[in-house]
Amino acid sequence: KKLLLLDVDCGVDDAQAIMMALAAPDVHVLGIMCTHGNANIENVCKNVLRVLKVCQRTEIPVYRGAGASILEEQLNGAQYHGKDGLGDVPDCNAPGLEHLQAEYAVNAITRIVTEHPGQVSLVATGPLTNIALAFKMDRTFPSKLKHLYIMGGNMESRGNVAICSEFNFAADPEAAYIVLNHFACPMYIATWEYCLRHVLPWEFFNEWVNQGTEKACFMKKITAHSEKFAKGKQGDREMYFGPGFVSCDSFAVAAAIDESVVTEYIRYGVSVELQGSVTRGMMIVDTLNALQKENQAFIMTKCDVEKLKQLMMSALK
Ligand code: BDR
Ligand code: CA
Repeated sequence: KKLLLLDVDCGVDDAQAIMMALAAPDVHVLGIMCTHGNANIENVCKNVLRVLKVCQRTEIPVYRGAGASILEEQLNGAQYHGKDGLGDVPDCNAPGLEHLQAEYAVNAITRIVTEHPGQVSLVATGPLTNIALAFKMDRTFPSKLKHLYIMGGNMESRGNVAICSEFNFAADPEAAYIVLNHFACPMYIATWEYCLRHVLPWEFFNEWVNQGTEKACFMKKITAHSEKFAKGKQGDREMYFGPGFVSCDSFAVAAAIDESVVTEYIRYGVSVELQGSVTRGMMIVDTLNALQKENQAFIMTKCDVEKLKQLMMSALK
């Protein structure tokens, strides 16, 4: 089985991605690390516990991670994901935070990867704070990873939270910088433009959430807020989301569980702009190889959308 560690800021698309990983037959999720991002860290932890409960997979350990980015800059995704990160749907049976592991995410990442050297694929679908801090604690840990999959950054200077920056990198640019510049393992990046290029039609979305299973009903409830926002009277929103439904984090998990989902990559050295007044948090794609980086990232450019859809459908069965 493929061994996966997920590091999430559980908003609605993180929940979708987690459910996809849990449903994959040849995948073993070793643990789920929580980070600040779409919601505050308490809500992120609660959201992951809720997802595991719906999927009847409460045996998977959940770890609390960083509650803020390295330089204390705070973003949140409330506008799209709702204040609680999962569409603000009341859930009186939500599991409490006592179900979290006592160990912190940063310690758990290095421990688990060290226990399975060369075997773990780490999938990051939120700000990279935990992963950067884990590296600061144990500089050998990236070399023990099999792969690192990241949803974040941009390849054409296009952003979703600022003109030039994507949410996960903008939420902690220093963390993204540390990871992109210091990790020697194979690094696969699902950028914001890659997600936008593969917007799914609303007809598919309707079919997906109306499968009638408990998981699909849960998905329908938690996505109602973001669906309304994405369809809302457009102007610049159409520019952000395109004419359909985008599940950004599912792209990263799909690539990790089935590599044939990605049919084309470009390979370049990558970094992150930290200084710019407009470009802070923007991913730098070194097309001229000016930075002379040894580890060229695999930047995803084409997706087999039919395979992605199948994985999404199975996730809610
Ligand atoms: C990313 O930001 C978050 O809102 C989503 O969960 C996704 O990880 C997209 O830019
Ligand atoms: Ca996310």
